[in-house]
Order: sequence, then structure tokens, then C-alpha cells
Amino acid sequence: MERKRVLITGAAGFLGSHLCDRFIKEDYHVIAMDNLITGDLQNIEHLFALENFEFSHHDVSKFVYVPGKLDYILHFASPASPIDYLKIPIQTLKVGSLGTHNLLGLAKNKKARMIIASTSEVYGDPSVNPQPEEYWGNVNPVGPRGVYDEAKRFQEAMTMAYHTFHGLETRIVRIFNTYGPRMRLNDGRVLPAFIGQALRGEDLTVFGDGSQTRSFCYVDDLVEGIYRLLLSDYAQPVNIGNPDEITIGQFAEEIIKLTGTTQKVIYKDLPVDDPKQRRPDITKARALLNWEPKINRAEGLKITYEYFKSLPAEALINKEHKDFTTYNR
Ligand SMILES: NC(=O)c1ccc[n+]([C@@H]2O[C@H](COP(=O)([O-])OP(=O)(O)OC[C@H]3O[C@@H](n4cnc5c(N)ncnc54)[C@H](O)[C@@H]3O)[C@@H](O)[C@H]2O)c1
Repeated sequence: MERKRVLITGAAGFLGSHLCDRFIKEDYHVIAMDNLITGDLQNIEHLFALENFEFSHHDVSKFVYVPGKLDYILHFASPASPIDYLKIPIQTLKVGSLGTHNLLGLAKNKKARMIIASTSEVYGDPSVNPQPEEYWGNVNPVGPRGVYDEAKRFQEAMTMAYHTFHGLETRIVRIFNTYGPRMRLNDGRVLPAFIGQALRGEDLTVFGDGSQTRSFCYVDDLVEGIYRLLLSDYAQPVNIGNPDEITIGQFAEEIIKLTGTTQKVIYKDLPVDDPKQRRPDITKARALLNWEPKINRAEGLKITYEYFKSLPAEALINKEHKDFTTYNR
């Protein structure tokens, strides 16, 4: 039987590369597209020799052409960490708006089903906890996070318009903080930031008093949720994340224990618009997709720590982001 063909954008990034692995495992033909602005070919180089894998070096904010049929499009291209989107704000707005528009056009042309990677950031600094899909959010459009949050909100609106106006088959996943191997050590997200500091023998920096909460989902759980949502018949947004909520202060202590570092926690000012709480309500995912996370934080952190430890020493050098405020995202 002919293989199903899937286009994955942002394929050289953290989540995109794990999605490539999953679709290869399911025997799809995978077309991986990326402009490498925050991604790394090392994340997918193990797939290059496969006959059912191809890579296209392309910026999806420009016109996207893919020859042949396409069954599915997974739009995951976008800078995703605060450090990245503060550094490249215009590209972030463009990939969420123009990029999404280009890919929706491609999906329409190919009669493909498209899923977009939305985010818990559409809820902004939420006034309800946990956040259900019905919550409309509390976002500051002109704050530093506005470029990311509003791009993602526009992306959802555009995708829904193609669904209702053109009858396109679309899916929207709202992803909550996810972690695992292939995150960049220096991308400013809280987990690699803490582990990087522990590995370099530095104190762990907590922004604010450490009482703000996050809920961390291991990447394999997330990929399973995305796979199920794509194959479902549900077009409204669905939260995928792990509802096991923890304060950043407690999380720093967990990392100290995990890594055995003798360093301590130091505190710095909370950045503007930093969400104070973050926890997904996954009632919908449970009911519609029969999905819930299986990997607890202790297990997931151990695997992730082993990955970071296995990286060459130069990966530890914090050269990228010295001049940028780090967020406890
Ligand atoms: N990791 C998380 O916890 C999380 C949470 C919520 C949402 N998301 C969303 O998931 C997606 C992937 O995030 P990630 O954590 O893997 O980030 P990442 O930075 O590791 O990966 C993003 C990839 O997109 C590529 N890219 C960016 N702009 C592009 C463009 N214009 N054309 C082609 N490629 C482009 C980058 O080079 C990179 O490889 C993003 O859309 C992000 O908003 C991630």
C-alpha cells in the first residue's frame, strides 16, 4: 500500500524532531521542513538515510510548495522560547500569521488535514486555574510576550476561519510546557536553564519569589496526544499537557536533588507579564482522545538529565543568551 505523506514544519526543532520520529515509526513518508533559525539538523540527522524521509530547508513565511500528494500537515515552525522570540520578534509574528496562511493554502490545495501547534500562552497570565479550553485568556498584546502570544492567537483564528469558511479539516493543539531530550540547553526555558546551571556549577536562578507555578509534560506523552488529536474528528482547540503542577521554587529543589549539585538557589526580579500559574485542564483530552500523561516528572527528568549530561562539553557554554533576561517559562 502507498504510504501516507505528512509535512512537518519546524521539523529540526525539539518537538518537530520527535514528531518526525513518531511518523517514521508509523511508516509514513515524512517531509521535514525547517529554516533552522532555532532548530538543529542534529535532531533529525539519524533519519536522513531513510527512503521515507526527506528534508526541505525552507522558510514557511514565504510561499510553500511541496510536490505530490499530502495527507497531513503539522505546523510546528515557530520560535518557542521567550529568549528566541524576543530576539526575533518579527519572524515570530510572521511564522504564526503568514506561515500559517501559506500552509493552510497548501492544505486546501492538497485536501490535507492540518494541525497547528498552539500554546498555553494564548491564556496569557490566566485568572483561572487550571485553564480549560473555554477560557479566553488574559494577554497583553503590546508586552514583550505579545509577539508570540498574539501570533498564536491569530494562528488559531485563521485556522478556524479556514475550517468554517473552506471546510478544511483542521486541528488545534494547545501545548503546555513540554520537556525532554533535544531541548537546547541555552534557550532560556526553565528546565534546561536549571540543568545547565547545575552542570556548570552555577547557582540556580529563580525569577520572582519562586511561587509561580508550571506543569511539565514529558515529550513522549505530548507526541501521543498530538497523534491522537490529529486522527480524531475534533476541530476545536484541545489542551495537551501534564496537570501535575509545581512551583518554580520546588522545581529548583528537585533539580538540585536530581543533579546532586552543591549550588544554591538565587532570586532575581520577575520579568514583565510572567504568568503566575499554569496548569492544563485536560478533561477534553481525556474524554475525546482517551489520553492522559503516563510519564511522571521523576522519570522524565531522569531521561532528560541523562541526555544533557551526554552532550559535548562545549554545549554547556552559556554563550547564546548572556544579554537577555531569562524567564522561568
Ligand atoms: N516546547 C514547548 O513546551 C511548547 C509549548 C507550547 C507550544 N509549543 C509550540 O510547538 C512548536 C515547536 O516548539 P519547539 O519547542 O520544538 O521549538 P524549537 O525552537 O525547538 O523548534 C521550532 C522549529 O521551527 C523552526 N522555524 C522557526 N521559524 C521557521 C520558519 N519561518 N520556517 C521554517 N522553520 C521555522 C526552527 O528552526 C525550529 O527548528 C512551536 O510552534 C511552539 O510555539 C511548544
